[in-house]
Amino acid sequence: MMHSFRQRIAVPFTYDVHFTTNLFNSDNPLLASVIDPAYKALFVIDSGVAEADPSLAGRIKQYCCTHDLKMATAPIVVPGGERVKNTQQYVDEIHRAIHEFGICRHSFVIAVGGGAMIDMAGFAASTAHRGVRLIRVSTTVLSQNDSAVGVKNGINAFGKKNFLGCFTPPYAVINDFQFLTTLEDRDWRAGMAEAVKVALIQDAAFFEFMEEEAAALAAREMRPMKTLIERCAEMHLLHIQTKGDPFELGSSRPLDFGHWAAHKLEQLTNHALRHGEAVAIGIALDTTYSYLSGMLEERDWRRTIDLLHTLGFDLAVTQEGLTLGRENSRSLLSGLNEFREHLGGPLTIMLLKRVGVGIEVHEISDDLMMESIALLNSTCEQNDASRLSPVGAEQI
Ligand SMILES: NC(=O)c1ccc[n+]([C@@H]2O[C@H](COP(=O)([O-])OP(=O)(O)OC[C@H]3O[C@@H](n4cnc5c(N)ncnc54)[C@H](O)[C@@H]3O)[C@@H](O)[C@H]2O)c1
Ligand SMILES: [Zn+2]
Repeated sequence: MMHSFRQRIAVPFTYDVHFTTNLFNSDNPLLASVIDPAYKALFVIDSGVAEADPSLAGRIKQYCCTHDLKMATAPIVVPGGERVKNTQQYVDEIHRAIHEFGICRHSFVIAVGGGAMIDMAGFAASTAHRGVRLIRVSTTVLSQNDSAVGVKNGINAFGKKNFLGCFTPPYAVINDFQFLTTLEDRDWRAGMAEAVKVALIQDAAFFEFMEEEAAALAAREMRPMKTLIERCAEMHLLHIQTKGDPFELGSSRPLDFGHWAAHKLEQLTNHALRHGEAVAIGIALDTTYSYLSGMLEERDWRRTIDLLHTLGFDLAVTQEGLTLGRENSRSLLSGLNEFREHLGGPLTIMLLKRVGVGIEVHEISDDLMMESIALLNSTCEQNDASRLSPVGAEQI
């Protein structure tokens, strides 16, 4: 004898992703039009952003005054970068502020910063009162074109990336291009890896655009960067919206192309590598594997490595204290299993068939991956040598 009820709930989520410049200038109406002024706003700022623009907290205050927005308290500044995700401390700090300043579910946590800080603040906002409204004001290339437009929040634990986290869509996302002008070169560059990733697996024309604009992008020209960010963000949004698995219940993760190695490299370098820098290496490695396993033409393999090099990425896994000798290479391979464990289900890895077309596989040969690492490293040495030679010639 058995009886069951079947519960079925469909919850639609809608959020806007806005693009602007100088969000906190008093004459910019965007933020005031996004926030409901009846409720409080708790601002949390990435320390890297606060240091790059010491006037920011004052301008936020002025903006709220001008537009009659209720600031819960002065902006809270938390560390920028991965260190903010490597501890529970800052999640607790935001929870405490939500508690002390009477932030309700209709009120807003407004996180202004890079992907790491927004991941952390999003996790804090999503878990207080089972979800306070989160507005992500993203200030790095990576957060603008990838991390902040999606639905994931989290922090690291037990040495594992994003071990604690949740799928909670934001209330709104605001990308202010002005913030990008104060980024270090490596942060300007790092986010472009995510654009190369989506282009490689889904959009050959976008890849060609990046090939054409690679030198301008590397030289920090804003015009192609805006296009890159908008297209990449749009593709990310469309993926979540149309591919039927917004909360990643399945094992298939096309947007994680290159990420099994990236997450492990971040861990092995103790986060000396930025996420985007590690993703560039991960993409280069899985593209090399695709080529060596006979799935990908040599020409497309070379185009990929060349584009990443021209954008300025160091793809040899011998940087930032990590010399990828045989022992470390083996440690890197353990990232495959950790990746499978994080997603659940059978191992599913996205590889490349040609530029613009990915292909999923369920098995990876350790030996061929070791060969791929060796080939990638030697290709990087050759590329570096050829990059250096014209300078040497001029000097002579
Ligand atoms: N939630 C997701 O879906 C998702 C997707 C991809 C990546 N991520 C996460 O995003 C994180 C990486 O984010 P990131 O690449 O933005 O780097 P980041 O957040 O680590 O920031 C890098 C550095 O830039 C500084 N910074 C930020 N904005 C600045 C500005 N405007 N001017 C000067 N300095 C500034 C920060 O203080 C930090 O020191 C990783 O933790 C990664 O796991 C999350
Ligand atoms: Zn990523």
